[in-house]
Amino acid sequence: MPNADTDFIRRLPKAELHLHLEGTLEAELMFALADRNKIKLPYPDVATLKAAYDFDNLQSFLNLYYQGADVLRTEQDFYDLTWAYLQRCADDGVVHVEPFFDPQTHTQRGLPIEVPLQGIHRALVDGEQKLGITHALILSFLRDLSEASALQTLESAMPFRDRFIGVGLDSAEQGNPPSKFQQVFQKARELGFHVVAHAGEEGPPAYIREALELLQVERIDHGVRCTDDPDLVDELKQRFIPLTVCPLSNTRLKVFRTMADHNLMALLDQGLCITINADDPAYFGGYLLDNFIAVRDALGMTESQARQLARNSLTASFLPDHRKDEWVTRLEAIAVND
Ligand code: ADE
Ligand code: ZN
Repeated sequence: MPNADTDFIRRLPKAELHLHLEGTLEAELMFALADRNKIKLPYPDVATLKAAYDFDNLQSFLNLYYQGADVLRTEQDFYDLTWAYLQRCADDGVVHVEPFFDPQTHTQRGLPIEVPLQGIHRALVDGEQKLGITHALILSFLRDLSEASALQTLESAMPFRDRFIGVGLDSAEQGNPPSKFQQVFQKARELGFHVVAHAGEEGPPAYIREALELLQVERIDHGVRCTDDPDLVDELKQRFIPLTVCPLSNTRLKVFRTMADHNLMALLDQGLCITINADDPAYFGGYLLDNFIAVRDALGMTESQARQLARNSLTASFLPDHRKDEWVTRLEAIAVND
């Protein structure tokens, strides 16, 4: 079967389920915000900064990502960041987003949690009104900090509980297993939030099991290292647990040597609920459609596989069932030669 063409993939309605808003901070916007906030960046220009985006592993990326986030100081900065991302989504045929933001990255620098929350929320509301993109924000805890800090973050966000629908877990994975966060995830579940966690990006399959069993997550972010444990792959398949896979991220952070080595299409063909996502597009060289194209060009992607990936993103979202059904009906009606 021939590969799906780019326009067909663009026209498929898609949800983005694994996207860090701080990771959409393009170098140009970083410089503009540094200027606006009178901050001196440790790089003379955009080209030099971009040349530093040459990562060996997750930690080498996180160092730059946290440094970059320091230019975000005001509600308007978070608005501008989020709005720029939503415009990219509109270009790529993304109809629904469930982005993460890391409150502790900002509260640790002295910003009140409402600064990022309000700026992001205002842009998401505008995205729905002006671009027709729906949203559900996820607050993500930094796993290299303590569980007490995560609990405090959740508590400080409660006055704004209508602004987010779930909690996640990100940052440096190795040595920070999901088991460290059982209490805060239990609390979040009791409060009625959805729960997801990064697991099996660099960390072992045991972390994926812990996220499922101890944190009772509804989706696994990344999860690509599940293939080291065939029984786990079987369980993910039987339970149709969504994996929010980020192909350009995985190659840029050396989880896979090249895109041709990536396991996501093999996992899709085995019947797992694989979705494609951008993770931190400003740092990894592409937004959602770029990720689809990179996978197609390296591994092959038929129209039926592209449709399945888009369908998975809709069914794995936290949209209400009737909204999922509406989108899936529209997805099935997308013809190849429109
Ligand atoms: N924070 C931002 N991007 C991340 C990733 N890919 N893994 C863990 N934490 C992150
Ligand atoms: Zn991520």
